[in-house]
Amino acid sequence: MADPRENASPAAFVTGWPIKHSRSPIIHRHWLKRYGLSGSYDAVAVSEPDFAVFIETLKNGTNGFRGGNVTIPHKEAAFRHSDRPDELAKELGAANTLWLNEGQVHATNTDGYGFTANLDDCHPGWDKVDRAVILGAGGASRAVIQSVRDRGIGEIHVVNRTASRARELADRFGSKIHAHGLPALAEVMVGAGLFVNTTSLGMDGEESTPIDFSSLQAGALVTDIVYVPLETPILKQAREQGFPTADGLGMLLHQAAPGFEKWFGRRPIVDEALRQLILQDI
Ligand code: ATR
Repeated sequence: MADPRENASPAAFVTGWPIKHSRSPIIHRHWLKRYGLSGSYDAVAVSEPDFAVFIETLKNGTNGFRGGNVTIPHKEAAFRHSDRPDELAKELGAANTLWLNEGQVHATNTDGYGFTANLDDCHPGWDKVDRAVILGAGGASRAVIQSVRDRGIGEIHVVNRTASRARELADRFGSKIHAHGLPALAEVMVGAGLFVNTTSLGMDGEESTPIDFSSLQAGALVTDIVYVPLETPILKQAREQGFPTADGLGMLLHQAAPGFEKWFGRRPIVDEALRQLILQDI
């Protein structure tokens, strides 16, 4: 079926391996209920060897899904197996949102949208800065780099423990991106208006190294894409040093919205009720 609105009760999935800790079903079921839409959203565990077959059954309609979300470890394979990846997915080489249209699997990556939409919501004007520092150069960092670059921020400094990984991303994402190893962190932070942590530092209560934010531009925004705990050690330090902060939960919620619209035909709003629902689950 070409249009989700033609299907009385469209079904969507989130797949990964493992998948049982995914919060996506809570998000999409909340929106289905809130907007009184008929439809379903379920977690489907698919192992790496089975992923290609899963996509085949999506394409030929035998699994009955309109589309769905894809998470670790399938984001790269989702891009490779899709028929119509958009420009964002092509540049990242990874997709997290799939939808079926006339027998073809379309793919995009909404992680970067989730990141910027959350900041637009909570800190409008966040992108009116000349310099950003992004800590980390793993999988999660890529979509953030792409989305920050696409907002026109002049200089983006990617700092990573393994400098060669930062250099790979600078090569991939263009001349505005500057790569550094950790020893350069203090130097590149001087005058920056945005600081983003994309590393797992401080995740799940792990200890994190102290960071001195005092050389950032006054009022610079400090964000973390980790949301467990909601206030990571990096955000706590930034808050204590007087800087505004944005936690990682908003990115998770906002990245879900474009997929919901594709499958169920309505653009959902990220509101406080949804945030509270997820917080109860953390
Ligand atoms: P993800 O897909 O979640 O980004 P990843 O690809 O394993 O996961 O990347 C994790 C990021 O956190 C990397 O930038 C990693 O640095 P390296 O590339 O040097 O491995 C960074 N990271 C993890 N633990 C770290 C630590 N203790 N100190 C500094 N950086 C760390």
